[in-house]
Amino acid sequence: MQELALLADTAGLEVVGSTYQRLKHPFPRQYIGPGKVEEIAALRAELRYDLVVFDDELTPGQARNIEDAIQARVLDRTGLILDIFARHAHTHEGRVQVELAQYRYLLPRLRRQWTHLERQAGGGGGSAGGVVGLRGPGETQLEVDRRLIARRIQWLEQQIEDVHRHREVYRERRRRSGLPVVAIVGYTNAGKSTLLNALSGASVRTEDRLFATLDPTTRQVELAGGQQMLLTDTVGFIQKLPTQLVAAFRATLEEIREADLLLHVLDITHPNAAQQTQTVLDTLRDLEVGNRPILTVLNKVDLMQGVDEAEVGRIAEALGLPDDYVAVSARNGWGLDALLAHIERALRVQMAPIAALIPYRRNDLVTLWHQRGMIDEERYEAEGTMIVGRVPATLVRRFEPFLTTARVVT
Ligand code: GTP
Repeated sequence: MQELALLADTAGLEVVGSTYQRLKHPFPRQYIGPGKVEEIAALRAELRYDLVVFDDELTPGQARNIEDAIQARVLDRTGLILDIFARHAHTHEGRVQVELAQYRYLLPRLRRQWTHLERQAGGGGGSAGGVVGLRGPGETQLEVDRRLIARRIQWLEQQIEDVHRHREVYRERRRRSGLPVVAIVGYTNAGKSTLLNALSGASVRTEDRLFATLDPTTRQVELAGGQQMLLTDTVGFIQKLPTQLVAAFRATLEEIREADLLLHVLDITHPNAAQQTQTVLDTLRDLEVGNRPILTVLNKVDLMQGVDEAEVGRIAEALGLPDDYVAVSARNGWGLDALLAHIERALRVQMAPIAALIPYRRNDLVTLWHQRGMIDEERYEAEGTMIVGRVPATLVRRFEPFLTTARVVT
């Protein structure tokens, strides 16, 4: 309920009261019991609320029945989250994804009062443009609305299809480049954007609001050894993220599937840290990426005054976290060097160990190795540069003509 209140605040709503009911099974007609509905209706005189938000998902019928009974608008958790997503989508891709999810949600919930839809669905350059006069003989306004939305949904689906294709081309290019991809995942507000900023020096918008990040933002970051990686921010996870939203954000979340390493950012100071961790791990499992290498980043340690390393270790253990974690403060930069060193190690084990004697005329390969791979030993010999180290599996072929089994003696 606390989280719901924060979500409501993020959506620009003012919370004037809250109530709950424990039920073994929801009532089919109104989800909550008739007595509870009456109680909420009676509260209206005192609280003067305009809207009632439910923390669960209501069927379109249930929402309608409650609205009729209390004579006020009803929103469920999905509707609220969709609203927030809509406010926070900054790019074309994000907006298309949210709009599609919104219309899919809206379609079965359409009621007669949606008369302004003609204008809405006609805007935005969709195929539903110029709808005036489209109403077929005998069609009611509601039927027209439904038809317009269905058409808009089709257009949006097409757009997403295009986005998919674009991304695929981009990913292919990236794959060939051999640049490792590190994706930042985590519960909403854990500090993902702040960490991306801190690690890349780039300025990505951060907000003390939920879902400040809806579009993946990718930055190229250099590790201490000169090796480059792509660091990508992803949409914040949230408890009970409605399944149709997960579906809508599939394109965005596919970034995670491509990643060589996942950085799970966790706000270690949050009272619900354990639950949030579980939500993130469950979501990763749903996305079928639960088996990717994960490095846990315990963020916001600057807020934990007087807490030493041993204490952080105890907290991590209590949260059931794996041993592979790093404590940082994305805000003041504390622990970031250790984090980068961890990332370097984690990426290293995924690369192929090779040794090569590269002729001087192919210095481009030496540069490539410096940028994409990791170097343990490097020596200049008469015939060329002798290097022992690791390169991404996708790049091994480039070095094939020069591979050697010789060891470098230092
Ligand atoms: P979503 O986009 O909603 O998923 O959020 P996010 O995980 O990207 O979080 P964001 O980086 O926007 O940070 C959320 C809030 O936490 C902001 O107010 C940040 O300033 C704050 N924050 C992030 N890192 C730290 C930290 O290390 N210490 C402290 N004290 N605050 C932090």
